[in-house]
Amino acid sequence: MANTLKQTLLILSIISTLSACSGKKSTTNNTENQRTTVTAPEKPKTLSRIALTESKCGTCHSFDPSKEILAPSFAKIKTAYIKLYPSKGDFVKHLSEFSLHPEESKSKIPGAIKSFGLMPELGFSKENTEKIASFLYDTPIEEKGWYPEKYNLEKNKAHSSNTQKKNKISQAKELALATKAQLGKNLLGAIKTKGTAGALSFCNTKAIHLTDSMASVLGVHIRRVSDKPRNPINLADKPALEYIHSAKKAIESGEKPKPKMRLDHGKSIVYIPIMTNKMCMQCHGEKKTEIKTATLKKIEKLYPADKAKDYKPNQLRGIWVVETK
Ligand code: HEC
Ligand code: HEC
Repeated sequence: MANTLKQTLLILSIISTLSACSGKKSTTNNTENQRTTVTAPEKPKTLSRIALTESKCGTCHSFDPSKEILAPSFAKIKTAYIKLYPSKGDFVKHLSEFSLHPEESKSKIPGAIKSFGLMPELGFSKENTEKIASFLYDTPIEEKGWYPEKYNLEKNKAHSSNTQKKNKISQAKELALATKAQLGKNLLGAIKTKGTAGALSFCNTKAIHLTDSMASVLGVHIRRVSDKPRNPINLADKPALEYIHSAKKAIESGEKPKPKMRLDHGKSIVYIPIMTNKMCMQCHGEKKTEIKTATLKKIEKLYPADKAKDYKPNQLRGIWVVETK
């Protein structure tokens, strides 16, 4: 149990670190960065601060006080901090300090570390963390009736479908990046210790298992598919194939293919391109010259219907399909 939690936190911390790295890009369009005047309307500001808080902290902390699976709820955190630091300045300072560099000696919630383990250091920016702390101070999240009524109201009201779409796409990208990092790390490890041919059987069984376990942790479904799959179960379905064709066209005309989201029976499905690089050629490159005989033999044995050879670097090898509710 403790192990599972550790693993979960590790995965989440990878994701959060990645999201911290790409955070700049994904928030530049965010309205909350354009807090220009004092008279800015109250609602969109509150709303985008909810969205920011959930995107950075929401995998572990919930606004729902009854949900404390991985960490204390925001309400519990706020109540503990405001008791010790009634002024906004102190509250923001201490809450941010902990979030940026969690240390046991700074903990203000008795028993939290014992129940959940110390919060990992996730590389948040000071600016975002202070914005989040100040939002928690300003908003009566700990009061009865704020969750779920006011929470839902504020979330739904100003959440334009466009922002929602952008958020989904950037979330999906982060998830795909994290999965890719996990896969890549394990694949490289296997190549190092077992050689390319030995690593093949690793891809065959473990690749799928890994992506699955990542996905179940996060409650989303993530897959890799291709128009020319090695494993026939990875064949893209019709809408995915259409996306692949349009992405290939974009690449042909010198553009960078963009991720795309579509809705399907209330689920959102995000497509993200997977490009080849030199490293991939030892298994997906030209027969004989790039794929060594031993590797080729093994590929043919494991994947008699393999279509995933003769690629060159910088081609579209397939796509991530990230499905969320
Ligand atoms: C990967 C999971 C994870 C994420 C993401 C996360 N936290 Fe935490 N956090 C925890 C855990 C676990 C605890 C409880 C143990 C502890 O207190 O260190 C915690 C506790 C806290 C506490 C209370 C610390 C105390 O004991 O006094 C604060 C404040 C906090 N988190 C703020 C944040 C903020 C703000 C964010 C987002 C910017 C965030 N956390 C994101 C896991 C996470
Ligand atoms: C050690 C050999 C090896 C290397 C190196 C390798 N792959 Fe693969 N790849 C495989 C195998 C084996 C499968 C089939 C896995 C399965 O059964 O799901 C696969 C499957 C895939 C798939 C899923 C679709 C399909 O064809 O079944 C994608 C996408 C993919 N690889 C992309 C890449 C990219 C991009 C790189 C380089 C960054 C890469 N691979 C490097 C062996 C390799």
